[in-house]
Amino acid sequence: MIVAIDGPAASGKSTVARRVAQRLGFRYLDTGAMYRAIGVETLHRGVALDDVEGIIAVARSCRVTFDHLPGEAVYTAVRINGRDVTADIRTPEADLAVSPVSQIAEVRELMVAEQRRLASEADTVVEGRDIGTVVFPDAPVKVYLTATASERARRRLGDRVAAGHGSEIAAVAADIERRDRADAEREVSPLRPAEDALVIDTTEMSPDEVVDTIISLVRAVER
Ligand code: DC
Repeated sequence: MIVAIDGPAASGKSTVARRVAQRLGFRYLDTGAMYRAIGVETLHRGVALDDVEGIIAVARSCRVTFDHLPGEAVYTAVRINGRDVTADIRTPEADLAVSPVSQIAEVRELMVAEQRRLASEADTVVEGRDIGTVVFPDAPVKVYLTATASERARRRLGDRVAAGHGSEIAAVAADIERRDRADAEREVSPLRPAEDALVIDTTEMSPDEVVDTIISLVRAVER
């Protein structure tokens, strides 16, 4: 079974998707980490972020993989061609690189094919922007998580501080707004809820309340 979880930046997708996967004994697939890894590799190779052909060549020559401990839902590392980029994909530089990379149709085709392959191996909770609309339009459970811009900025600032990166709320809010605009306005696979997705505003909800809501949707389709 596929559980599709989409939504804008810092809407709570990762926390919720991980917990749902752990509770159900499903795999967790973080598609944002795949686009981030391509962005980080683009920077690593010194390819300019406006060099579309160069970025496509990076994506074609790379394989993004996740390390999993046996039976564990959540990955312990993200690698690109074997190189560990788990920490690198969460930096402000990676946030900047991911938007141009994820706007390129050829890059998306490669990533989507790999996402479908990975999710064919096991029941999977898949998190991203286009999972319910493009990657798995037939997923039996689709949710779209949102929260107010200020709540999302507050959450992302918490992630940054926890990762040891000092940051300011205004800078975090500006980055989220920039990425949301890029994700929603791009021509290929723009961010939007699937018509059959349940839209959940998580602003006033705890992660576990959101998790419980999604698990009850899964139980309902299992019946
Ligand atoms: O979920 P995230 O913040 O790690 O995602 C980083 C970026 O990757 C996001 O701003 C847009 C892109 N992305 C995408 O285009 N499609 C996806 N399915 C997942 C992420």
